[in-house]
Amino acid sequence: MTRPAKKTPTVFKASTPLSQEVAARATVLFGQTIDFPEADQVRHCSKAALVLVDGRIAWHGPVAELPYARQAFARAEDYGDAWILPGLIDTHVHAAQMPVIASWGEQLLDWLNRYTFPAERRFEDPAIARQQSNVFLDALLAHGTTTAMVFGTVHEAGTDALFDAAHKRQMALIAGKVLMDRNCPDYLSDTADSGFDASARLIHRWHGTDRLHYAITPRFAPTSTEAQLERAGALHREADGLYMQTHVSENQDEVNWVQSLFPNSRDYVDVYQHYGLLHDRAVLAHGIHLTDREWSALREHQSRIAVCPTSNTFLGSGLFDFARAEREGVALGLASDVGGGTSLSQLVSAAEAYKVGQLQGYKLTANQLWHQVTSGNARALHLDSQIGTLDTGKMADLVVLDTTRNTNLSARLAQVESLDEALFATLILGDERLTRATWVAGERLYHQ
Ligand code: GUN
Ligand code: ZN
Repeated sequence: MTRPAKKTPTVFKASTPLSQEVAARATVLFGQTIDFPEADQVRHCSKAALVLVDGRIAWHGPVAELPYARQAFARAEDYGDAWILPGLIDTHVHAAQMPVIASWGEQLLDWLNRYTFPAERRFEDPAIARQQSNVFLDALLAHGTTTAMVFGTVHEAGTDALFDAAHKRQMALIAGKVLMDRNCPDYLSDTADSGFDASARLIHRWHGTDRLHYAITPRFAPTSTEAQLERAGALHREADGLYMQTHVSENQDEVNWVQSLFPNSRDYVDVYQHYGLLHDRAVLAHGIHLTDREWSALREHQSRIAVCPTSNTFLGSGLFDFARAEREGVALGLASDVGGGTSLSQLVSAAEAYKVGQLQGYKLTANQLWHQVTSGNARALHLDSQIGTLDTGKMADLVVLDTTRNTNLSARLAQVESLDEALFATLILGDERLTRATWVAGERLYHQ
């Protein structure tokens, strides 16, 4: 998240011409459109039309400049004063952990053993994995999240089910099968070879299929042998543009454990660096207890940190140092990390990030935070040419938020004097209950 923030809302201008033939097969949405192309920039149109054709935004501008009446379109939805925003993006979340959200009393390592590993076991049954994947993706959509970087489980068929469910919804999803071959229950363990082979099959089946991408997914250093990390690095040769996702330096006991398991590594980040897993498509969750060298290594390799504030406070892991990340020039994503995190709502993640900043005297602005959960996260995931703003040509992945659905928020919004204040109050007080509709590739997949 880069520094603020002089906010001068600019107004969307009507874009490219739209022929009558195209309008006749298009969907038109009416509402207030808002997006955040930069951390210090907001665009707003209080009476906008958004025309969706072939899954993309074909026209966007003031209703007064729409060249045809609504009857000229195949379909029209009038959202009144509700906000139409780019779909929210989550840079780190676990598909199998919804059942353990809000589990009491443990910090990371005991939380994994007591709650999380048994929950992930359920994905060994492909029928359950299919059903849970559908529940998970529908929950993301209900929270206004249209794209996510997702941990599957160790199971190949279960992760295949997750990809299949995303494919059916035409979602842009980055996901991967978890690799872990030690320090975990036998029922969740793969081997260096079986993990490699299963990942390679999933890569060939899904990476680059429509909007899907594969992330090589070593869970975290403690649960992989050196042999497995070596093979994880080798997986990068299976295809271009593969991502890597993992966890790093979340909890002090975890950091100490990594030191004892990898005595020849300079530090935790070095474990990944050594095996070629640190690059600009690497997204490492947490990064709470990083050393100077680790910050430098992350910057030099242009790797991303997925900041997971509700998880870090819930599991007592610590406070992410936003000021340090800014000074170091390390790119960030913002993430829910459910089930360590306590909400799939990226409004809630942003509100918690604000509070984490406050506890350290660092003020994140509303514009920075809205930008982060939309185009900032798109950039962190190299997807910004496709999603993250409401520019014409972008995929029509949208969320419609109705701020009147929360009475506290409505009362607060009655008092605000600027769009910026309204945006801030909505982040702090809002959550998934504001979601009126969620659109993916021009199709409405959720409405309430
Ligand atoms: N570190 C290794 N696995 C996990 C996980 O599932 N959640 C979190 N928060 N941290 C981890
Ligand atoms: Zn996680």
